[in-house]
Amino acid sequence: MEQLSIYGGKPLRGIVTVSGSKNAALPILFATLLTDGETLLENLPDIADVRLALQILAEMGCRTERRGAGIAICTEGAQYRMPAPEAVGLMRASTYLLGGCLGRFGMCELPRPGGCNFGTRPIDLHCRALSALGAQFSTEGNCLVGKASGMHGAEVCFPTCSVGATVNTLLAAVCAAGETRIRGAAMEPHVVDLARYLNACGAQIEGAGTDEIRVVGGRPLHGCRHRIIGDMIEAGTYLMAGLATRGEVSVRGVSVAELTAVLQTLVRMGGVVSVSGDCVRCRSSGPLQNVAVRTAPYPGFPTDLHPQLCALMATGYGLGRITETVFPTRFRYTEELRRMGAQLYVGDGEVLIWGGNLRPAPITVPDLRAGAALLIAALSAPGETVLSDCGFLYRGYTDLAPKLWSLGASVMPTTPGTQAAAQPSDGAE
Ligand code: EPZ
Repeated sequence: MEQLSIYGGKPLRGIVTVSGSKNAALPILFATLLTDGETLLENLPDIADVRLALQILAEMGCRTERRGAGIAICTEGAQYRMPAPEAVGLMRASTYLLGGCLGRFGMCELPRPGGCNFGTRPIDLHCRALSALGAQFSTEGNCLVGKASGMHGAEVCFPTCSVGATVNTLLAAVCAAGETRIRGAAMEPHVVDLARYLNACGAQIEGAGTDEIRVVGGRPLHGCRHRIIGDMIEAGTYLMAGLATRGEVSVRGVSVAELTAVLQTLVRMGGVVSVSGDCVRCRSSGPLQNVAVRTAPYPGFPTDLHPQLCALMATGYGLGRITETVFPTRFRYTEELRRMGAQLYVGDGEVLIWGGNLRPAPITVPDLRAGAALLIAALSAPGETVLSDCGFLYRGYTDLAPKLWSLGASVMPTTPGTQAAAQPSDGAE
């Protein structure tokens, strides 16, 4: 069980270049199955979920290799093979095998996908959309089995905005003969990046980034060279860590426009934000005033920064409220925050937070973004906090410790019973 020992209470100062977006990289990796030839992906984040996706592709006969700063994926000779349940069960992005395998092989046996456990994670919208394109599904044991002897364009209308279902529909639609219209599509930047990649491979996708996407499918797709966009959630996490420690952190490598809802929230709390090119800096100018925030699909405030915002508000002043509209039960992190002295109340799909001071406590990380929230809390609490089960963090944050060290944080990855990993003398004591 991996641990992270954090000596909190010091302001973080410095600049972090964010890595490639996890939630853009994963759909694009599985989208390579739809192409014949070689794709070179640059700015691919070196995180556990990406390594797992590459492993699954390799088991299907794709050749993957590091090429300079990028990763090349050659799909010539790829053959269908049921993905290993123990791999599929480790991440939610395994669901993209539905669109990828149906599109290339006309079939998919999908063991139960994994994903952060903050409530039910159904895939009914995925199946309904893929069925409209001609796929047929059945359940065999613990596997969802999909078959498609030839997919055709269709009208797909989502009653609930779903990133994953939009991704899977795009993957299938580019292989389906004819025109597909997706209404109620997710507008996240990672959906746009996927469409950009597929179009560079020869697809015809229009309207990505809006809630209505048109696809003319059935065109042969070749490989291409593509740079993954920067991770807006990683960027927001570091900005909030800087504010929570009353320091001054800048992030670069991400589109500032994608952070609009996040930056507006930090300014409402009293953060001072300045932008220079693709570099965003945030510092506090006095007490941070807690506010009311509602999460929403993009361009709203992202659900994946809700836990981190709660940790920030726990160090703020006054009463804050976060209403979670995407995953109304993603509140497991609050139990751990309480252990650190946070004054909060979880209601129906919302959390109320009374600002105050946090103190160290033994913490167990329940999921990826909860881990990011607890990391922020530990960085702000004077003294040593040990985060256990922090392997979750490595699923979504590349080079976490080195990036924190560059900001002056005293963080040491440890595993129980061993010496703390060496940390460069940051001289910031
Ligand atoms: C993606 O999950 C992300 N994961 C999540 O990030 C992110 O929180 C989420 O989108 C929302 O932005 C990846 O990209 C790998 P949804 P996804 O389908 O696709 C309901 C992280 O920390 N729904 O947009 O699973 C669902 O229950 C992770 O990086 C159905 O009802 O999310 C939820 O209430 C956490 N039926 C809502 O839609 C379905 O078939 C939005 O979920 C699918 C979804």
